[in-house]
Amino acid sequence: VRILILGADGYIGYPLSQRLVALGHEVWGVDNGLRRRCVEAVGGHSGVPIIPFVDRGREIGAEFVEVDLQASTVIPGIFHDFEPESVVNLAQVPSAPYSMISQDRCNETQINNLLTTNNLLWTLRDWDKVVPVVTLGTMGEYLCTPEGMPIPEGWGDMTFRGITARVPFPRMGGSFYHQSKIAASKNIEFACKIWPHLRYTDINQGVVYGTLTDDMGGDPARRTRFDYEGVFGTVINRYVAQAICGLPMSPFGAGHQKRGFIALRDSIQALVLALMQPPPEEQSYRIINQWDEVYEITELAGRVIKKAKEIGLSPTVENIPNPRVELEVHPYHPDHDELLKLGFKATHTLDQELEVMLKDLIQFKTRIKEREAAVAPLVSWTIK
Ligand SMILES: NC(=O)c1ccc[n+]([C@@H]2O[C@H](COP(=O)([O-])OP(=O)(O)OC[C@H]3O[C@@H](n4cnc5c(N)ncnc54)[C@H](O)[C@@H]3O)[C@@H](O)[C@H]2O)c1
Repeated sequence: VRILILGADGYIGYPLSQRLVALGHEVWGVDNGLRRRCVEAVGGHSGVPIIPFVDRGREIGAEFVEVDLQASTVIPGIFHDFEPESVVNLAQVPSAPYSMISQDRCNETQINNLLTTNNLLWTLRDWDKVVPVVTLGTMGEYLCTPEGMPIPEGWGDMTFRGITARVPFPRMGGSFYHQSKIAASKNIEFACKIWPHLRYTDINQGVVYGTLTDDMGGDPARRTRFDYEGVFGTVINRYVAQAICGLPMSPFGAGHQKRGFIALRDSIQALVLALMQPPPEEQSYRIINQWDEVYEITELAGRVIKKAKEIGLSPTVENIPNPRVELEVHPYHPDHDELLKLGFKATHTLDQELEVMLKDLIQFKTRIKEREAAVAPLVSWTIK
């Protein structure tokens, strides 16, 4: 199958490209290096060395093209040249803190995330074949209540003034990044309603962690990026880097925030399952919640401590004032039945994956320490 990956240079995009090539698909990847530039701009770098984008394509037997998907003519051109039979859209600025740095970073995030989404939607409207798309949203799009209202996959029954109807579950983001993902999801849902030949799987993904997949083998050219600074580093990746640098792990505030997590290798597994099993013809738009296990962020720090000690590190934890505006204590009950129905089975437990990560990353300790000043999560939601 000819598969187009938008955002192929990213943390998820490169290992996904490798998996799809290994499965025998013809892969075209597109990226404009935005992630690399954004991470540099906030004082970070990939803790694992990575090779240039176009070389990555050659390395794995895919065609990688450097181009900006914000330009409205780009995606139609790629469709014309490659005639993809499936598309994965990962091309977003994916950081909540980045979107909260300043007005300009907020605008950059929202404009980019909506333009890349809309440009694909309009290309598909005019394309005369059905091309299933897997697109990435986030679990952070859903409303998280102090009461712990269960979170369905997209829709739920609501009773109001005695009338019950199936309606979209409320979406309420925790940052301008999350708001951009909600807007993108809403545009996709609307487009699928008015252009029913569209066939979208919108994946609300939990927080991804890890460094390795089996396809990378021991080949340095196949390594994906590893971000650990306070803006693009996600919580487990940052904790592990903090443990390696000898910095305290830093849960926010009370530290009882709960989130769904998934290891990188299992995120790739889940994306391939969704790609290979598109929704049926009568279902233009479906939503899948993609997470494996739910953890509280303080409990996660405890898990990292245990595993880090096993390799001779002396990790510590120090809760810091919460830079975000969010609930710090709340129940969390999201569904993920659709993912399980597709045949998803986690391959590694959290402890197993932490062990893999720590043993892997310790070899890059000097490189990780080079940018340790950027690890502190300093972007405040409220203060300049
Ligand atoms: N990593 C996570 O924990 C996580 C969790 C939930 C959801 N997601 C979602 O998964 C998707 C991929 O995440 P990731 O962690 O791999 O992010 P990433 O930033 O590593 O990958 C996105 C890639 O898209 C590229 N890109 C962005 N805008 C572009 C444009 N205009 N033109 C061309 N390329 C462009 C970037 O350069 C980057 O390489 C995103 O949609 C993100 O919101 C990620």
